[in-house]
Amino acid sequence: MSRKKNDPILVPELIAKKRDGNAMSEGEIRSLIDGFMDGAVTDYQMSAFAMAVFFQGMSFDETVAMTLAMRDSGQVVDLGGLSAPKVDKHSTGGVGDNVSICLAPIVAACGVVVPMMSGRGLGHTGGTLDKLEAIPGFRVDLSVAQFRQQLRKVGCALIGQTGDLAPADKRLYALRDVTGTVESIPLITSSILSKKLAEGIDALVLDVKVGRGAFMKTEGEARELARSLVRVGRLAGKRVSALLTDMNAPIGYTIGNALETIEALEVLHGSGPEDLRELTFALGAEMLRAAGVAKTEAQARRLLGHAVADGTALRKMQEIVGAQGGDPSVVEEPSRLKLARHRHTVRAPEDGYVTGVDPLELGYAALGLGAGRLRAEDAVDPGAGIRLHVRVGDRARAGEPLATLYSSKRALLEAGVRRTESALRLGKRRLKPRNRLIDAIRR
Ligand code: URA
Repeated sequence: MSRKKNDPILVPELIAKKRDGNAMSEGEIRSLIDGFMDGAVTDYQMSAFAMAVFFQGMSFDETVAMTLAMRDSGQVVDLGGLSAPKVDKHSTGGVGDNVSICLAPIVAACGVVVPMMSGRGLGHTGGTLDKLEAIPGFRVDLSVAQFRQQLRKVGCALIGQTGDLAPADKRLYALRDVTGTVESIPLITSSILSKKLAEGIDALVLDVKVGRGAFMKTEGEARELARSLVRVGRLAGKRVSALLTDMNAPIGYTIGNALETIEALEVLHGSGPEDLRELTFALGAEMLRAAGVAKTEAQARRLLGHAVADGTALRKMQEIVGAQGGDPSVVEEPSRLKLARHRHTVRAPEDGYVTGVDPLELGYAALGLGAGRLRAEDAVDPGAGIRLHVRVGDRARAGEPLATLYSSKRALLEAGVRRTESALRLGKRRLKPRNRLIDAIRR
């Protein structure tokens, strides 16, 4: 039965319907999201609904309806006035995932407009916005008008879901973060795509992570998520592709906001960890091809390489940071970013090869040190986190440093040390680190 304008939304009935595994109509989903925005649906009801979806899932049609209803909960930006192709990248979330911070300026330096809307930390994973805010003065809360103006002037803006872009997702995301309802394919699909469809892009490249530090633990689940994202995105008229990438170890050597920002800025200087550079170039090549700026992967990689080597990517990042109120000198000299003052180094208890660097444990360890939030209203400690000194395959002698922990609260170090010790495994056999790139899903 369809609902008339003044009919009440029977929220308990809708929650029960999903709880019992029944399909919801497009109208029911839209009224739930509209009600969430106008106060007729409370946070606790929306959390219960998210839990029902977590257990019962959603059909493709329901996921499309949820995505479009969340997109339409705010403004949909029209970037039609910009002639250059507009392409964004989004990761489903990992540990030490600071790719966006180096990728966006490199791709923008190649002539693609990059309207990048990112999130905060979610569950055990960090968020690009929290990392960027480690740069003194950097503002992620641009209005839609400022966002548009910066894209026109600079060709790239790194913003949060402020203004009026997919506000339903912003609120639901915060609830999911603290109610154990993150790892759901329809909820992740609608969350990511609602905000991406609102930001005015032509094409989107997704980094779908798989493994212990990802929300999708198995390759099968990650492929299903990638296909769901690509199908829903294409149905909404965008060019969407996904790279399936490994998340069984943190990316690079750092976890935490300032630490990861420093590492990402190092990539713009032509250095930085090899796996971070590899991921950045693989995703960047996919973006340049989606934009039509490069025909082949090899050509795209050449363009990206030049942008780093001749300093245009670094200058682009300075422009972005300056335009968003941040201190651009940090881009030139990343070590100016402050790290938390209380520190502890975890050392190898015996000789051996590093056989495991557990990203989930380390993600939670960093969260506990203050790098993430335990409650939605918490502030993050920008200087908190973990610097790894080793990665899988490295040899460590007894007493050598494996990781250094940082926190502004000394009392938080002890639990972090215990978790970090359990996250780092040593063994007799030398293992090869896994390749980050697993597959590309383009249909
Ligand atoms: N990233 C998002 O934007 N949303 C999710 O639900 C998970 C990762």
